[in-house]
This record gives sequence, structure tokens and C-alpha cells, in this order.
Amino acid sequence: MSEAAQPWDGARIRDLRASLLAFFDEHQREMPWRETSDPYRIWVSEVMLQQTRVETVVPYYRRWMERFPTVRTLAEASTDEVLRHWQGLGYYSRARNLHKAARELQAHYDGALPTSAAELKQLPGIGDYTAGAVASIAFGKAEPAVDGNVRRVLARLLDEPSPTAGELRRWASALVDPERPGDFNQAFMELGSVVCVPRSPRCRSCPVGEYCRARRAGTQEERPAPKTRKPNPRIVEVVLVLRRGEDRNCEVFLRRRPADGLLGGMWECPSREANEGPDSGSELWKAQVRRALQGLLNEIGTGSDGVDDLGDPRALTSVDHTFSHRRVHYHPFEVAVRPGRILRPPEGSEGYCRWVPLRDRTRVPLPVAQEAILRDLELRLAAGASLS
Ligand code: ADE
Repeated sequence: MSEAAQPWDGARIRDLRASLLAFFDEHQREMPWRETSDPYRIWVSEVMLQQTRVETVVPYYRRWMERFPTVRTLAEASTDEVLRHWQGLGYYSRARNLHKAARELQAHYDGALPTSAAELKQLPGIGDYTAGAVASIAFGKAEPAVDGNVRRVLARLLDEPSPTAGELRRWASALVDPERPGDFNQAFMELGSVVCVPRSPRCRSCPVGEYCRARRAGTQEERPAPKTRKPNPRIVEVVLVLRRGEDRNCEVFLRRRPADGLLGGMWECPSREANEGPDSGSELWKAQVRRALQGLLNEIGTGSDGVDDLGDPRALTSVDHTFSHRRVHYHPFEVAVRPGRILRPPEGSEGYCRWVPLRDRTRVPLPVAQEAILRDLELRLAAGASLS
């Protein structure tokens, strides 16, 4: 068996576990999910912590637990309410999957989480990492939980530039402490976020430095090797901010995105992809914007009925947003509905198209970029009102 397949002998593994757990006992940070043994709370925290920093998660976690303290309260909530409590955290499929899983648990297991990693993995949104984290922390099962931090620590301990998922899982399974698996996994994560950090790791404070092959070889900064990633494509969108009413008491037209995919189930001003010209002040660009806005009006079933000649629609401040696999540059344009005309959402669109009072937009889940666009509109309308 190669060294990498069986990295340490039993005695070294026991020493390494003891050192890591002693470090955790002394240095672990306070976090609200560390004050509970409720499997539901631990599950929610682990889902929120995927790709998101602890400091960002804490206020979301607290608000979530106030509103959805149990599997049942989550199962009984509406999609809009669930997404609103996730608004700003990103990767919204995590919230949709938590909701779906809560409904399954309520329907089939009386609201209780299963205790094994294999059963947990049957639930929507629970993969190897979350199953291992919940099974170990909430149920004391000796399961590995390899997140980005643990991957980095293991790659350094073993001085492996590009460990595979299978290798990482095997090493983590060999190391996890059978007596305190939840603490051990959290200690590993904690080590990665406070000591074994990506750049300039604090090797002199490391409780397991003596076992670290990268440190011995002086390669810790190069482990793991950076993943080669294609640069994210940049997309340009024209956004129709359709308004009825004159001041901050106006309403805006919003529609709901399809349930699956990017920002699934969130509400937004209708938008359409555009090819940004070299000069966004050019006639070519203006013509493209008019076509896109007219196309959107047709698409939402209103045609141009009720909207004066689009003319030069007022440009609002553009907004950039980076998603995991793309960057989007939003160009919002405000179009006012002529007074006295009422645009109706298309037949049968209740539930996915609505006029929403600008002031009450917090009642619907809005992506971060959409909130920035509507906030800009609100400020402009307020400034306009104070001038007149
Ligand atoms: N990252 C993911 N899960 C964590 C946990 N339980 N503690 C600290 N950081 C984490």
C-alpha cells in the first residue's frame, strides 16, 4: 500500500487526534450552533456554512431559528418566506432544498432527522459533506466531513498537491476520532479557518505541525495546488423597471423566476440578455435597449398598451453581481406607465407576476442586485419629490 493510501500508523493517528482535540477544547470560537445538540439546528448551520463565512452566517442563522425553530415550522412555511430569510446569503438552491427536505421529514418521519450518513444523503441537498457533518456532530457517528478547509489541511499534512475526493475521504475517515467525531471534524475545520489558512499559514501555532509533511518540505504555501478555473463569463442584462404611480408610493412590476436554476423562486424585474456594444451611449446600444424593453413588455403580456412611446427610457444606476459561475452587469431602465392606464399581469400569471408597492418589496424575496436597483429607484424618486 502506498504511503498516501495509509498515511500514518495507529499510534501517530492517536497522537494527532489528541493534539487536535486539545486545540479545539482550548481555542474553539463561540458559535450559536455549538450551543445546541438539536440535529435540525446543526443541519441548518452546516447548510448555511457551505461556501459562506461564519461571520456572515451568524445573523442569518439567528433570524432563521426565530422564524423556523423546528422542522415542522419550516415544512409549513411558504417558499417566499423561506427565500426571504435566505435573501443575501446566495446559492438559493440551499434554501429550497432545506425546505423540500423539511417537508419530506415532516411527511414521512414525523419531523425527525435520520441518524446515519447514508440515510441523510437521501434527503434533497444533503451530500457527502453535510451528511458527514450532521451524522458526526448531531449523532456522534464516526463519519468524515471534508469541506474546503479540511481539504487544505489534509493536502498539507500529506504534502499532496491535488488529492482526489476519494483520497481525501479515505484519509479523513482514517483520522476521525471515534469517541468525539463531531468535535474532531469541527476542530479540523477550525484549524483550517484560523491556523492553516490559505496564504501565510501560521505554522508556528499549529497543534499538528509535527505531523505535517508540507511544513517539513517547506511546500505548505503551494498545497493544495490552485485549481485551474476558466474565467467566469461576463453577461450583460437589460432590466425593465416598470413603475406605476408617481412617487415613492408607486408600484413596480415583478415576476418570479422558475423554481429551479440560478436564483430559482426569487422575484425580479423582468430582464433580458443583451450584447453590450463598445459604447453604451451609442445609438446602436439605445436601439438595442429599446428592442429589449419592448420585447420584455410583449413577453409579460402587456404589449405596449399603457406605455407611452418608449422614447429614451431613463437609465438607472447599473449594478454588477458575481455569481459562482458568471458575472452579470445589469443595466436597469425605468419605464413609467401612463397615468390612468392599468397594466395587468398576463392571464393566469397570479403567483408569478405582480405589482408590488415599492415600499413593501421586503415582503418578497429579491436577489441582492434587484434590491440595489429598486433602492436606487426609491432614492431617485425621493430626491425628485423633495425637489418639486
Ligand atoms: N464550517 C462548516 N461547518 C463548521 C462548523 N461546524 N464549525 C466551524 N466552521 C464550519
